[in-house]
Amino acid sequence: MRRRTVLLLLALFTVVIFLFWPRQPGTSVDRYPPRPQVVKIEPPPKIIVPPKEANGTVPTGWRPFMPPASYLLPPFALEPTLSQRLPCVDQWVSLSKACEMTENGTIDAVWTWINGSEPILADTREQEVAAWTAKGVKGPRPALFLGSRQTHFRTHGEMINSMRSVLKSMPSGLVQKYMLLTADVAADDTAELRLGSVPIWLDMNQTGGLQVFHHSDVFRIPESSLPSDTDAERQGREWRDRTVPSFNSLAIESQLANIPGLSPTIFYLNDDCFLLKPVSAADFETPLYGPVFRIQFDLRVRSRPPGSSLLGIDKEGEWPGLEYTNWLLDQRFGNRKRRYLHHIAKVLPAPIMREASAVWADELAKTAETRFRGQGSQANLVFLATWYTIEKHRESLLYSFIMLRTDADADGVFSSAERRTLIAGLEREIPIALREGGSAYYIELNLMRAGLEFPKETQYQWLSSDGYPLIETVRSGSAAHCTMDVDACFAPGTVLDVFKRVAFEKPDCGDCLIAHLISRSGAAGLGAFLPPPSAPSARPSPPQTPPLAKRWQDANFSSGMGREFAVNTIQRYTYVLGSSPMQFHALRRSGDVARLPNMTSPVVFLAVNDDIRDVRAIQQTDTDMRRWYAQRWGDMRAWWERH
Ligand SMILES: *[C@@H]1O[C@H](CO)[C@@H](O)[C@H](O)[C@H]1NC(C)=O
Ligand SMILES: *[C@@H]1O[C@H](CO)[C@@H](O)[C@H](O)[C@H]1NC(C)=O
Ligand SMILES: *[C@@H]1O[C@H](CO)[C@@H](O)[C@H](O)[C@H]1NC(C)=O
Ligand SMILES: *[C@@H]1O[C@H](CO)[C@@H](O)[C@H](O)[C@H]1NC(C)=O
Ligand SMILES: *[C@@H]1O[C@H](CO)[C@@H](O)[C@H](O)[C@H]1NC(C)=O
Ligand SMILES: *[C@@H]1O[C@H](CO)[C@@H](O)[C@H](O)[C@H]1NC(C)=O
Repeated sequence: MRRRTVLLLLALFTVVIFLFWPRQPGTSVDRYPPRPQVVKIEPPPKIIVPPKEANGTVPTGWRPFMPPASYLLPPFALEPTLSQRLPCVDQWVSLSKACEMTENGTIDAVWTWINGSEPILADTREQEVAAWTAKGVKGPRPALFLGSRQTHFRTHGEMINSMRSVLKSMPSGLVQKYMLLTADVAADDTAELRLGSVPIWLDMNQTGGLQVFHHSDVFRIPESSLPSDTDAERQGREWRDRTVPSFNSLAIESQLANIPGLSPTIFYLNDDCFLLKPVSAADFETPLYGPVFRIQFDLRVRSRPPGSSLLGIDKEGEWPGLEYTNWLLDQRFGNRKRRYLHHIAKVLPAPIMREASAVWADELAKTAETRFRGQGSQANLVFLATWYTIEKHRESLLYSFIMLRTDADADGVFSSAERRTLIAGLEREIPIALREGGSAYYIELNLMRAGLEFPKETQYQWLSSDGYPLIETVRSGSAAHCTMDVDACFAPGTVLDVFKRVAFEKPDCGDCLIAHLISRSGAAGLGAFLPPPSAPSARPSPPQTPPLAKRWQDANFSSGMGREFAVNTIQRYTYVLGSSPMQFHALRRSGDVARLPNMTSPVVFLAVNDDIRDVRAIQQTDTDMRRWYAQRWGDMRAWWERH
């Protein structure tokens, strides 16, 4: 009897461990996230300071430049996304029937890069570590400091090969600009001149389709985040001096939206990301279906309010940032566990990234201030902008239906007739099934009609016109459905009250309402969400900006906007969830390079993390990596490389 209880408990324990063991992204190569670990930092041997005089000799790997005069974030300006440039937005949103495109989209490939073996940067980093340690990082081991472990900075020639891989795999004409974002340091003690880091193999004379930006070019603080309201420009400069150069990828990424002149779509890579096979524009974005996001649906991201304990969590890992960012999204869109983005290079719509950056400008500036991982609350801009797009599409659908279509007279209250339209058909179980409009046949038909190439290496698994992908459904046999508590979801209130309750306060209500209206829209399109074509706008001009509030309680939504505004808003946030052959590969020990994809592997998107802690394995791994690169891109010289 006792024995059976013990066995039972043991089995239960195993099941619990299995259920709660953190799952890993991508492949089965590694457990994720890695164990918390700190690396001992030796005291800096000697401090090398950049040249004192601007006219002194510029060291190899650096170039002098003048950063822009102001470090203040300019006000947000609404720009159209690629999808909004479609000539037939109404026909497309309402019926999913494409028309011929008059232009092809282009993308910018953007890399952030730090030369891990650059002595000036290494010393700046170590001075910073020493300063923090001196400031009293308490505890028994004051020499330990988080966020500066060497593996974040070691390189084996990744950057040159990452860029070659993109040049080789992308169709000609798709990438408009190759952009690098690198560190910079003061060139002298007095003048504004800076020295920007430039890869040694880069031919800076080839400026055509290549642009190099430095941290000082893009790090910006909103005036609202300044400590006092006098002499904003000076405070902005001081803020820059405290934050640049940055060694924290989250801090650097937090400022991506400030890169000047971005195309509407960007492909964002770290130097450890590679493209291994030929791809087409539709693997990244199309004006019809929007940017392609690659999301790992079985990996849930919880919410972490600022200031909560990080006990037992890898402070340097990406999870604290992801969970904090999910909390930010919760405040604006309602609470839920959103999902991890596959650990590979990411596609981002630049105008929406700017919009999200305007909403959370203060949080992103705070993130930029953290020079190392593991300090304070750090927002993850890439996760933020991706889920912002998805949430805004959902919000736009509900806004269009409740506030524009149902409240047809725009008086802000539901008449009894309006209320009947609102809840018609909602008392029953609402079946959920994928529509014909999301089938591969239909998608290819539309791409063909538009004169666009098909994706080469991506399956479109979920279109934004399929509804909201995180809906909780009930399964009965092979069929799935959702149900709504109509009385609770649509309890009396103004139109704005009901919209906010359904959309944000009780997100399940909104999810199921969307599923219902999708099925009412027929085989394709979003017709059931839209005000009738005849509906004019009650206002002379649309709002100049979307609501930029951080909390849904504070967000403003205008009633009386007509159909044109509705379809444009929905189309702005169009996206598609895709799946492609991909792999995330963490190198842990000598010999791991042998498991990287070989020339016959189907993998297209690859990310390689260097997590080697055993110094004896570093040399071997370096040799192996260089051999692997040579096999793939050794015969290639990109036009931006020095000859
Ligand atoms: C560099 O410029 C400063 C003033 O801008 C000047 O005083 C100094 O002599 C110059 N040094 C050299 C080596 O030309
Ligand atoms: C867009 O690109 C495709 C494939 O490269 C090409 O066939 C088509 O003519 C282009 N369309 C326009 C409008 O440039
Ligand atoms: C990084 O810096 C080191 C030291 O200056 C230099 O030898 C190396 O070539 C640099 N790497 C690149 C890719 O620029
Ligand atoms: C770039 O152009 C300048 C002036 O034409 C020349 O002096 C320099 O050698 C060139 N650099 C390279 C890497 O070609
Ligand atoms: C919302 O609208 C009110 C009144 O029109 C205005 O006072 C307030 O500033 C607006 N809030 C935001 C976040 O735009
Ligand atoms: C490439 O890798 C696959 C899977 O890892 C393996 O089955 C195959 O034999 C390898 N091919 C070559 C030519 O090494």
